[in-house]
Amino acid sequence: MKKKVSDSMEAVYPGSFDPITYGHIDIIERSAEIFEKIIVLVTYNVRKNYSFSFKERTEMAIDSLKDFKNVEVVSHDGLLVDFLKQNSIKVVIRGLRVISDFEHELQMAHANKALYNNMETFFLMTDNEYSYISSSMVKEIVQFGGDVASWVPEEVAVKLKELYKSN
Ligand code: COA
Repeated sequence: MKKKVSDSMEAVYPGSFDPITYGHIDIIERSAEIFEKIIVLVTYNVRKNYSFSFKERTEMAIDSLKDFKNVEVVSHDGLLVDFLKQNSIKVVIRGLRVISDFEHELQMAHANKALYNNMETFFLMTDNEYSYISSSMVKEIVQFGGDVASWVPEEVAVKLKELYKSN
């Protein structure tokens, strides 16, 4: 019989979270209903230039997710698969918003699986309400003085305002 993907039913939701938005939180909330524990892994996409430091991205995620009992925020600056192996976790969660997400996600899922065959990537469709937002879009709106209260938690909106006030 084929080996089970997970015994502990823990899953990792990795991302840049530069910053975390309600789109990410939607995926986390729904995953937390399915898995016993979700580890939100704040990590690096080497192709990105970040607006917030690693520490700030992590702190915003911790603040925004403090009310979820079975969600833990962890930062990690290596390969995702190394984190999975080190922590005996086999499930990765990713959200899909629009068709254009699919290609990038498919590549990542295959690359991760090639590096660690025991893992699986689970995809959830981002709620329609958040399917058009991204961290970059939220930053752009704040930069030009717009209101992002419906897309990011209050503490993140404050950090965004500070970021663009000092630049
Ligand atoms: N709702 C709204 N927006 C969402 C979303 C959702 N549910 N899910 C993703 N997004 C947005 C993000 O805000 C982000 O927007 P931005 O590009 O404007 O910043 C974009 O979609 C993608 O962000 P994210 O999900 O954070 O992924 P990423 O592409 O920045 O990073 C990592 C991917 C970090 C998971 C990947 O690079 C990784 O695993 N890094 C670790 C090193 C490693 O193992 N590399 C090999 C990977 S094969």
